[in-house]
Amino acid sequence: MMQTACVRYRHFTTTINSTSMAQKVLNILFIGDIVGKPGLDLVETLIKSYVQKYEIDFCIANGENLVDGKGINEEAATKVFSLGVHVITGGNHLWDNWHARKLLGANRNVLRPLNYPAENPGNGYVVYDLGEKGKVGVLNLQGRVYMQTIDCPFKKADWAVGRITEQTKVIFLDMHAEATAEKMALGWHLDGRITAMVGTHTHIQTADARILPRGTAYITDVGMTGPYDSVIGLKKEIAIRRFLHQTPYKYEMASHDVRLAGVYLQADAESGKALKFESFMYPKF
Ligand SMILES: [Fe+2]
Ligand SMILES: [Fe+2]
Repeated sequence: MMQTACVRYRHFTTTINSTSMAQKVLNILFIGDIVGKPGLDLVETLIKSYVQKYEIDFCIANGENLVDGKGINEEAATKVFSLGVHVITGGNHLWDNWHARKLLGANRNVLRPLNYPAENPGNGYVVYDLGEKGKVGVLNLQGRVYMQTIDCPFKKADWAVGRITEQTKVIFLDMHAEATAEKMALGWHLDGRITAMVGTHTHIQTADARILPRGTAYITDVGMTGPYDSVIGLKKEIAIRRFLHQTPYKYEMASHDVRLAGVYLQADAESGKALKFESFMYPKF
C-alpha cells in the first residue's frame, strides 16, 4: 500500500512541476445528506472554509432530505447552488416531496438515482463542464437491498460509466444504499473505472475512506449533515416510539447537535484516478 501511495504522490509532484496544478488536478468536495434547514444553515456557515482549505474546484451535495428531512424543492435547490454547489444528488426520499418531480424534470444538475424506472422525471447522471479544468461526470445510483426493487445498480453503472467515459475519465458516483455489502461490492466492481464512489443514505459516516488498488476512492457512507441529537435526523422520542409500538408516527425532524459530514477528493484530471481521499465530520464527535 505504501509503495502505491508513493507512486501516486510522485506522479502528483511531477504533474505540478511540468504544468500548472489547476490544469492537471481536480479538488472535489462532497457533502453528505443535508437534512433540513439545520443542515443547510451549517453548510452555509462552513462551506467557504472547506472550499478554501482544499482549494475546491467542484462541489457535490446529497439533497434528498433538504426540505424538512423529506425531499427537495426549487427553493432549497436554488439556495444550495448559491452556496457554490455544482451538482445535487438524490435518493429514495426525493419522491416524498411532489415539488421534486418538477425540479428533477427542469434542472439537469439535480440528479435522481439512474436505476429508477425511466418513466420518472429527471436524470441519473450529468457531465459538468468546468472549462479549462475539464469535465466531471456525476452519477447517482440506488441500492436494492432493503430498498425499492428498482433496476440493477451494477448493470446501470456499467452502462452509465461507458457513456460518461466518452466525455471524461473523472467520474464521481453517489451510491445511495442501505446495505454495506452492496456498496462495497459495487466499489470493487467499479475500481479503476471511476474516480470515486461514495455511499449515502444511512446517515452515519463509516471509517473506511480509502483508495482501492486500481485508483477508485471509496467510502461506504459519508454520513449526514444535520442534527445528531436524533435517530438519523428524526426526533429520537418519535423513533423510539415507532420501534416500541411497531406502528407509524408522524415524522418530525430533530434540530440540535448539527454536524457537517463530507469527503475531500483529489483527482488526476487526465487519468481520472484518485490521488487523495479523506472523510471529515465537523464538529467531530
Ligand atoms: Fe438521506
Ligand atoms: Fe435515503
